[in-house]
Amino acid sequence: MSETDSNPETETEAFGSAPIDTSSGPDTTAEFPLQVDGLRKSFGGITAVDGATFQVESGTLTGLIGPNGAGKSTTFNLITGMLKPDTGTVTFNDEDITGMEPHEIANKGLVRTFQIARELEDMTVLENMMLAPKHQRGEKLWRSVLPGVRGEVIEQEEELLERVWEVLEFFEIDHIAEEYAGNLSGGQRKLLEMARALLTDPDMLLLDEPFAGVNPSLEKRLLTHIHELREQGYTFLLVEHDMDLIMENCEHVIVLHQGRVLTEGTPADIKSNEEVIEAYLGGNV
Ligand SMILES: Nc1ncnc2c1ncn2[C@@H]1O[C@H](COP(=O)(O)OP(=O)(O)OP(=O)(O)O)[C@@H](O)[C@H]1O
Ligand SMILES: [Mg+2]
Repeated sequence: MSETDSNPETETEAFGSAPIDTSSGPDTTAEFPLQVDGLRKSFGGITAVDGATFQVESGTLTGLIGPNGAGKSTTFNLITGMLKPDTGTVTFNDEDITGMEPHEIANKGLVRTFQIARELEDMTVLENMMLAPKHQRGEKLWRSVLPGVRGEVIEQEEELLERVWEVLEFFEIDHIAEEYAGNLSGGQRKLLEMARALLTDPDMLLLDEPFAGVNPSLEKRLLTHIHELREQGYTFLLVEHDMDLIMENCEHVIVLHQGRVLTEGTPADIKSNEEVIEAYLGGNV
């Protein structure tokens, strides 16, 4: 490794003064990074996902909506490897990732946010960030170094710390870096969850009801961050029950009903779609 390569200062300068390093944004070139085809999953007698087929366009904030029990969370679990499908395929960046382990899928750049686990509540925000799983893709940010070469390991930790602070600042939670995760408000937790996910250096993020229990001002902040990241090229698939929020923020909406795609289109298409209204009404409202 040359002198220049091993100089953390050089890396730091490359970050510039932008709120977040865009060079660490997605590299994806696929027009539709996520493709789900004929996905099916049953639990005993219940078919939770019943042939779901859809794709998500690169750089969009796409909404995945549907009534309670439509199969949205199960679909997320199938995409991210938490569950194995009975049949069907999941393709990410033109690679078949069906049946891969969650960490393999995350390493490929497809991540979902996770609630802060109980054991992490006794650690600070900063410690939570330092413990977040790191991406192991290429040498873009975390140059892979051979263990045992002390100087290089320290350098890698410095780079990690640099990136951690950058992400904390981006989500405006750097001022609570020393706070215990267990003391955070619902909204601050969501910001930390997103920050941890971003640290894995993903191309695409799956968000399952990220605004639940978040107060309106933090919800607005979280949405602003999502839009900023989308503009940098990140792709989002968002499950959310608040129709107004979906309609105002997503450019494309996929409607899941009884485990399959009922319809999809722009928010305006979906809003006026009789089948969608019917699926949601289900007799009441
Ligand atoms: N592990 C499981 N075992 C048995 N049934 C399950 C399991 N997970 C989900 N289901 C069932 O599968 C169906 C789809 O559930 P899922 O959680 O995917 O729906 P959802 O669209 O996320 O709903 P919500 O909007 O309420 O979060 C439901 O009938 C649910 O009860
Ligand atoms: Mg759900």
